[in-house]
Amino acid sequence: MKKRICILGSTGSIGTQALDVISQHSDLYEAYVLTAYNNADLLIEQARRFNPEAVVIAKESNYETVKEGLAHLPIKVYTGADALCQVVQDDNVDMVLAAMVGFAGLEPTIAAIRAKKAIALANKETLVVAGDLITRLANENQVPILPVDSEHSAIFQCIEPGNRIDKILLTCSGGPFRHFSKEQLLHVTKADALAHPTWNMGAKITIDSATLMNKGFEVIEARWLFGVSPQQIQVVVHPQSVIHSAVQFEDGAVKAQLGVPDMRLPIQYAFSFPRRLPLNGERLDLFSLKDLTFERPDIERFRCLHLAYEALHQGGNMPCIVNAANEVANRAFIDNRISFNRIAEIIEQTMQHISFTNTSSLGTYLDTDKEARQYAATLL
Ligand SMILES: NC(=O)c1ccc[n+]([C@@H]2O[C@H](COP(=O)([O-])OP(=O)(O)OC[C@H]3O[C@@H](n4cnc5c(N)ncnc54)[C@H](OP(=O)(O)O)[C@@H]3O)[C@@H](O)[C@H]2O)c1
Repeated sequence: MKKRICILGSTGSIGTQALDVISQHSDLYEAYVLTAYNNADLLIEQARRFNPEAVVIAKESNYETVKEGLAHLPIKVYTGADALCQVVQDDNVDMVLAAMVGFAGLEPTIAAIRAKKAIALANKETLVVAGDLITRLANENQVPILPVDSEHSAIFQCIEPGNRIDKILLTCSGGPFRHFSKEQLLHVTKADALAHPTWNMGAKITIDSATLMNKGFEVIEARWLFGVSPQQIQVVVHPQSVIHSAVQFEDGAVKAQLGVPDMRLPIQYAFSFPRRLPLNGERLDLFSLKDLTFERPDIERFRCLHLAYEALHQGGNMPCIVNAANEVANRAFIDNRISFNRIAEIIEQTMQHISFTNTSSLGTYLDTDKEARQYAATLL
C-alpha cells in the first residue's frame, strides 16, 4: 500500500523537492494533502498534477482563486490556519512532512503528533520553540520524528541505536559572509545575503544561514532530536558542504555522511526509512574534491549563533523569544528596513525585555511568541 503523505508547505523549496521525490516513487508514495499560504497558482498546478484528496490555501483571501482553479476536480479545498491542523488528522494520512516555514508550523505539527502521524520534520522552528513539548508528545504518542534538515539527517544516518554519542560535529558552510569583517558586515545587502554559496533554499532560511542563526537553530534542533547536551554539539565550519555532519562515539570513532548538496536525499530518506531507495541526480566524486577544510565559527562576528546557544542554555521560553524576534528581524532585513547587523541586536534586546518562564506548554509558547514579536517590531 502507498504511503499517503500530507505536505505542509508544498509550494516551498522543501515542498517542491518532496513532490519530485514522490513523482520518482509514485508506486510507493502519494501526495494526499498539499498546503500553501499564498501561492495559489503553484498550489493549483500541483493539485492538478498530483490529484490530492485535499488542499489548503492558508491565506483566506486566496481561497476563491484556488476553489475556482480546481472546480472541475474532486479535490477538497480548505482555507485558514485551523484547516492545517484539521487536514493532518485525516485517518488516511500516514505521514506529515512539516515543510512550512517559521512558527506557523508549530500547531499543525502538534496536531499531527497528537493524531499519531509519523513526522518528517523540515520545519526546524518547531523544535527550536517547543523542543521539550514536541519530543514529550512524540514519545507519549509513539510517533517517530524523522529529520529532513540535511545535517540532522546525516547525524540520523550515522547514529547507532544502543551506542552512546560522545559528540555531534554539526557542519556549517559559513554562509556568504564567512570572511567578512565586522565593518564589512555593516554594509551587506539582501541580495548579498540571498546568494548562498552551496544551498538553494527559501528566503528566510537563506538569511538565517548568512547570520548563522540557522546553525544556532540547528544546534537546538540536534539537542532535542538526539537527546544530547549543548556541550556535546560542536559547530564546524566546512565551506565545501561535502560532509553533511558527523558523530563521534565513546571509543573515538567518527562516522560522517557525505554527499552532494541535494535536499531530495534527506527528504526521501525520511519517507523511506529504514530503507534506501534509488534517487536520480549528481553523485559525489571524491577525485574532483580539492580540499576539505574545517574552521571554528566566529561567534563575535556572527552573534546570532552565540544568542542561540545562550537561549538553549537558559531553556524555558527563551528559544521561543529568540525565534520570534528573529522572524521579525529577518523579515525586516528582507524588506530593506534594517541593516544586517541590526538583526542580532534586535534579537538580543528582545531576549532582555520579555519575561522568562520555565513552563513548557503550548499556551506559554503562543503567548511568548506574540509578545516577543510585538516588542521586536517596536525596535525596527
Ligand atoms: N530549503 C531548504 O533547503 C531547507 C533545508 C533544511 C531545513 N529547511 C526548513 O524547512 C522549512 C521550509 O523551508 P523552505 O526553504 O522550503 O521555505 P520556503 O521555500 O519559504 O517555503 C515555505 C512554505 O511554507 C508555506 N508557508 C509560509 N508561511 C505559511 C503560513 N503562515 N501558513 C501556512 N503555510 C505557510 C509557503 O507557502 P507559500 O509558498 O504559499 O507562501 C511555502 O509552501 C523551514 O523551516 C526551513 O528552516 C529548509
